Order: sequence, then C-alpha cells, then structure tokens
Amino acid sequence: MKKLIFTIFGSTGDLTSRKLLPAIAKLYKDQRIPKETQVICLGRKKVSTDEYLKYMNDESSKKLDLKTLNEIVIYHEMQITDENEYLGLKKIIDKNSSKDTKHLYYLAIGPELFFDVAKNINQYDLIKKKNMNQSIIFEKPFGHDLESAKKINQKLWSYFDESQIFRIDHYLGKEMIQNIMMVRFANRIFEDIWYNRTIKNVKIIVKETDGILNRGGYYDQSGALKDMVQSHLLQMLSLVAMEVPVSYHSEDVKNEKVKVIENFTFDEKSLIFGQYEGYLEEEKVKEDSQTETFVFLKAFVNTPRFKGVPFYLMTGKKLDIKESVIIVEFEETSEQRKWNLPLSTNKLFIKIAPEDGVGLRFNSKVPGLSDDVEEVELEYCAACEAVGNMSEAYEKLLLDATEYHKSLFTRWDEIELSWKMIDQIKKYQKSPITYENYASLKKLIKEKWDVEMP
Ligand code: BG6
Repeated sequence: MKKLIFTIFGSTGDLTSRKLLPAIAKLYKDQRIPKETQVICLGRKKVSTDEYLKYMNDESSKKLDLKTLNEIVIYHEMQITDENEYLGLKKIIDKNSSKDTKHLYYLAIGPELFFDVAKNINQYDLIKKKNMNQSIIFEKPFGHDLESAKKINQKLWSYFDESQIFRIDHYLGKEMIQNIMMVRFANRIFEDIWYNRTIKNVKIIVKETDGILNRGGYYDQSGALKDMVQSHLLQMLSLVAMEVPVSYHSEDVKNEKVKVIENFTFDEKSLIFGQYEGYLEEEKVKEDSQTETFVFLKAFVNTPRFKGVPFYLMTGKKLDIKESVIIVEFEETSEQRKWNLPLSTNKLFIKIAPEDGVGLRFNSKVPGLSDDVEEVELEYCAACEAVGNMSEAYEKLLLDATEYHKSLFTRWDEIELSWKMIDQIKKYQKSPITYENYASLKKLIKEKWDVEMP
C-alpha cells in the first residue's frame, strides 16, 4: 500500500472527534499507515479544513493532535444523502489517487443512512465490487432489529462483495478481548477447567458512569439492550463460551463464535430493565420514554461444555464506576462442600477496562501466626507490560482494516443471530424501574436472584 485515502461520512460527530481522528493521527505519527495518507472528512457545515479541525478539537474530550491532522485532513462540505453531490467527492478522490491507492470509506452514521450512502458510493464507482483496494466500514449498530439489519445487508451485498465489508464492534479491538482466546487456549490450567463441571457461573459486565451524553436522538430509539448487549456483550460471551476453533483464521474463529449464539437462551423471568433518574430530562428523549439505560439478564449457552452454567449479563449507564469485566466463578472444592466451609470460590477476572489484565482470586492462609484463610489475588496488568501507551481499540481496528485483516470484525451471520436473540428478548421488555444509583439495582438483583454483582 503506497497511499491511503480514508473518507469519513459523519465526520462532525462525536465518534469522529473522540475516536477516529485521534486513532488516525496516532497511526500516522507512528508510521503505521502510509506517509501519503489523506483523510477526507465529509460534513454539512460550511467551514474550511482549519475551522473544521478547530471545531472538532473543541468538541473532543481530549485535545486532538492538530499538527498531525493538519497535514492529512481535507474537509469537504457535502450533503451525503444527495446523490448529485457525489460527483464532487469523486473528483477530489480521483485527483488524489493513483493505481495502487487503498480506499477506505468509514460510515460513522446511523444505520438509517447506510442504504443511501452505500448506493451512492456504488453508483459513483467509488467502490467497485470485488476491487480489494476499496473497502467500506460500518459503525455499529448494524440495523435496529433483525428485519432492518437483513434489509441493509441484502442491499450491501448487491453493491459490494462481503470481502469488502467491515462491520465494527469496537470491543473486539480492546486488548483484553483480543486476549481471551489466548488465555483460554494457550494455557493448560485454563483449558482443563473450562467446563460446566468446574465453572459455576460467568458474569459479563459493562458499567458506565456517564449518562447518554448528547446522544439522546440515537439512544432513545435504542436502549441498553440494543446499544450494548446485541454487540459488545454477546461478542464477549461468544469468546468465553466458544469451542476451540479448527484454526485461528478469521473464518474458523467466527464459525465457532456463531455456534455459541445459536445455542444461546435466556430466562425471561430474570430480565431487569432500569432507567436512570433524570433520563427523561435529557435532550431529544421523549418525555414519557420507556427506554432502558440498564439491563440485567440470566442467559445460558446450551452446548455440552456450558449446559447449565448461568451467564449473567449486565450493562448500564450512570452506575457506580466505569468498568468492563468478565468474571468466571468456579465451583466450590469438595472439601469446601463436605465441611460447609465459609471459603470464597475461585474467580478469574478478565479485566477489559479501565485496567487491562487478568486477576485470579483464590484462598490462602493469612500470613503469620494466624490460621485464618483469606481471599488473595494474583494479578497480571497488561498495560504495565506494554511498551509505550496501550493502543486504543480504534487504532487496532483501523490498522487491521488498512491491512485487510478481518478477524476483529463481525461477520454477517454473527449480527443476524444476535439481532434474532435481541428481538426475542424484546418481547419480554417491561417498563423500566427508575434507579437513583447502582446500589439499589445491586440489591434488587441479590434479593430476586441471589446473585452478587460487583
Ligand atoms: C458504544 C455505545 O458502542 O460503547 C455507547 O454506543 C457506550 O453507548 C460505549 O458508551 C462504551 O464503550 P467503552 O469503550 O467506553 O466501554
């Protein structure tokens, strides 16, 4: 790849300022993408490139690397739903391209616009079917239910080859999510105990402290189930519960992940939907909205390996801390059961954020003269071992897209099955309970299901 042209649709949005521009700037500065990289940012605002970058810098929570971005970004004013405006875009792209230029089109826009934009991209030959130098990246959510996702996908397949399509789930780019298979399959100690005989339950948790920020328009149509469970939580669950793949090639891994979702069931009685106090006052939220900002459910993966093991999935906004973690809890030892000893169970923590690492909790004697037992933790901190700063998920994913590595992107059947599941769960959706803080939800889960959530 000599030259890269990266075109962003939806480039005045939050995702571009917080994730895409910082990731591109870092990759460019670290020389991970070609020296001849051009980033074309499309938006409706009538501004110059300088003004655009200044605006994005003001919008971003962290300061952008304006020096680097100034070298590579071109802002182009355009109404992306108006097909007549694509000729102008094509001219800019053609002017900057040569034969071996790699083109990536990133759709950081709502799924309702995927159709029109994809059609125009195809119609103006920005992407020719099967040209492997031209790819298109779709931000999640891919649709808003099974039917809409299918419709989008059918259309996309008429314009592009599956090999040119990248569907993003940014959790797959996170260091410790990439590490789950490694921990499971490269360690005999874990390989041998990864069964329902030894695993008591699995908790998959994504807690956030922020509310919906300024995304009311999108979020109120979506809710925690569609925004988080359909994508991030089901992806984590697939990696925890999958069988050993035939090989570690993208397709073989996905074949195994898909089987997990095919075997996924849930206990409809376990569902808890919550809405944080103050949600109804958020901008662009309906005043009587029933959208959930918190969800808890008990699920099962009915494979011989995991039959009978509860998977507790929980995610929500405005909770006590920002934390994404998978906790695998092991069964009591036979001694523990025999004597009914009040010992802790062993737990493996796969820490995804804010720390990246692994923790293993086990029982040990209190050092010194005491005979008591206490729970202790062996800890591995991935960030502490990393050379330089840990890379952000979007850096990894964008780099993989430029290098044409598809392992960390979702395949259509994964999306199809996960929407099918979410549509099923949705049938049992109840009015959300209003919560003031996480403590009340934690108490409710404990009282109702005798499950201790951290
Ligand atoms: C996004 C959701 O996919 O993930 C957001 O749309 C959520 O609502 C975010 O806040 C959480 O991602 P992270 O990386 O901050 O855990």
